[in-house]
Amino acid sequence: MSSVTVRVPAKVNVQLSVGPLREDGYHDLVNVFHAVSIFDRVEAKESDAITVAVEGEWAGQVPLDDGNLAVRAARALAKHAGRSYGADLVIHKEIPVAGGMAGGSADAAGALVACNELWGLGLPFEDLVEIAGDLGSDVPFSLLGGTAVGTGRGEELSELPTGGTFHWVFAPAEGGLSTPSVYAECDRLREESGAEVPWPELNERLIEALSTGDAYALGSCLSNDLQDAALALRPELATTLDAGRQHGALGAIVSGSGPTCAFLAIDATHARDLAASLTATGAATSAMAAHGPVPGATLA
Ligand code: C5P
Repeated sequence: MSSVTVRVPAKVNVQLSVGPLREDGYHDLVNVFHAVSIFDRVEAKESDAITVAVEGEWAGQVPLDDGNLAVRAARALAKHAGRSYGADLVIHKEIPVAGGMAGGSADAAGALVACNELWGLGLPFEDLVEIAGDLGSDVPFSLLGGTAVGTGRGEELSELPTGGTFHWVFAPAEGGLSTPSVYAECDRLREESGAEVPWPELNERLIEALSTGDAYALGSCLSNDLQDAALALRPELATTLDAGRQHGALGAIVSGSGPTCAFLAIDATHARDLAASLTATGAATSAMAAHGPVPGATLA
């Protein structure tokens, strides 16, 4: 096989509950991930060395050095296999970069699945998930897709049943936000307020809304403990969220660590109309309609 292509979805967090800061610098989470139909494609081609190139709208913002998570994923997989394999990786980016939609994690998951196939390793999914967890807290979910709750750092996953398709609009913001800086701002705001940080708990109403496919119920219980921090760093996002609510979004929330804003729509038509209204009124510079849940990293 000389080339393998894998398609990997973006995610939105429909519940992101952040516990107290741990000694290792991470936070214990209850993180309900939901994979949505905005996809990066990762192609792996036979080569002597591991290299990366990026195509698409967001290409200029993706690091091509050791900070590239797909390269790190390919290296980690080769190391796991105990051989110095090579692959030319080509990432076609549709997922906003540093947008709170796990775009980097998607590319890492894509590289793991593509190189596992290209190199004929035949490693089982569980092995890939283990390597993924070492690469980043969100990478295991990018492999799995669907809807799932992540505990621990977010990497210990249990699938959640969903009773239908949910329709979303995503409005990326100019310039990304760094995940560590948003967590640090969350800690700072908490320290400033002096309030005790509760242990994160799964919201039973949310589980019910997901399992029955009730978009109205889901919209009313979306939550993100990182949202105040993202808004503190990027106050203008509050205007975008308000505009979405005014145009009938069932729920409006910052996606993960932001700055992408996520809006839950009534159905596919409403999602298209909402995306058009957000851009027409200037509340967002761009907006994409998408649906979820969708599968994780899949051979194309
Ligand atoms: O795991 P990942 O490398 O994606 O995490 C990036 C950063 O996000 C961490 O360095 C940490 O600052 C923050 N983080 C956290 N608690 C988590 C996950 C991430 O504090 N559960």
